[in-house]
Amino acid sequence: MPCPTLEPTVLTGDRPTGPLHLGHFVGSLRTRIELQHETRQFLFLADAQALTDNVGRHQKVADNVVEVALDYLAVGIDPDRSTIFIQSQVPELAELSQYLLNLVTVSRLERNPTIKEEIRQRGFERDIPAGFLTYPVSQAADITAFKATRIPVGDDQLPMIEQTNELVRKFNNAVGRDVLLECEAILSSVPRLPGIDGKAKMSKSLGNAIALNASEDEITRAVRMMYTDPNHLRAQDPGQVEGNVVFAFLDVFEPDAEKLSALKAHYRRGGLGDSVLKRILDRHLQELLGPIRTERRRFANDREEILAMLRKGTVRAREVAACTLSEVKAALGLNYFG
Ligand code: TRP
Repeated sequence: MPCPTLEPTVLTGDRPTGPLHLGHFVGSLRTRIELQHETRQFLFLADAQALTDNVGRHQKVADNVVEVALDYLAVGIDPDRSTIFIQSQVPELAELSQYLLNLVTVSRLERNPTIKEEIRQRGFERDIPAGFLTYPVSQAADITAFKATRIPVGDDQLPMIEQTNELVRKFNNAVGRDVLLECEAILSSVPRLPGIDGKAKMSKSLGNAIALNASEDEITRAVRMMYTDPNHLRAQDPGQVEGNVVFAFLDVFEPDAEKLSALKAHYRRGGLGDSVLKRILDRHLQELLGPIRTERRRFANDREEILAMLRKGTVRAREVAACTLSEVKAALGLNYFG
């Protein structure tokens, strides 16, 4: 039975290792909120992927599934428009990964720049869990099972998209027809947010993130701690805008472009203190995150309802993944019983 023809599909996942932060929001969450109004969209909690480097911390991963789902709802992902599901509850994804794994070499996996960087960060060196090394293949299964063609992600995920497309081409070539679809990344139009410590990437594990569920005080403290220009000791001194985290944030969160360039000029000239800038940024972040926090609290009161929503989404997702998997198996001649 051929699968129903699909509308163009957008898909992304997030590893549930902690609540989402501003980096996620700017990187792809905002895009996803917009896209749900124009296309079919799947979002999922990549709990199985999170387990590839969280052995022994499985309870943390399981607990954060609902937390990330709450973040989705709090920022305005609408479960009537977007299908939200739990990766581990769609076993078809694991089965599809198994077939895709035959189409990639170990050395190709070892060359994936994102994997390389993550191996370095985690200190795996030679002791790399096989599941970790191969997670880009499971990610390719996530994408292709839904015939998703547009993937809103941060630029660190580009190597994953490239590997997915290689697998798609190899598979289609091997079976002699186009069963799986290639995809493309949708990158955010604004630059990536640095961590509050000035490191290039905001990340919960680096301890330099501002969570979407941060309290008012936590936001203010994070802004106060933000790395600025270490040589800008007195307000009257000239300061540097480049590499200054407060300006990197204002570039994203200050809507008044004229005001922003005036602030930059003033800072460069001297006479503008860090605390003035930080107050402006604090106000913007409080305005953005306040309503998200309120929404989150509203949804958090009814965990049963969140689970029911996730169950419904997972059932819907399974139907689509199962259909693709049956096409894949048929293409490989694994349809013995018709
Ligand atoms: N790797 C992504 C992350 O680091 C999560 C993810 C899993 C994903 N499968 C995906 C993203 C498929 C986009 C498409 O959070």
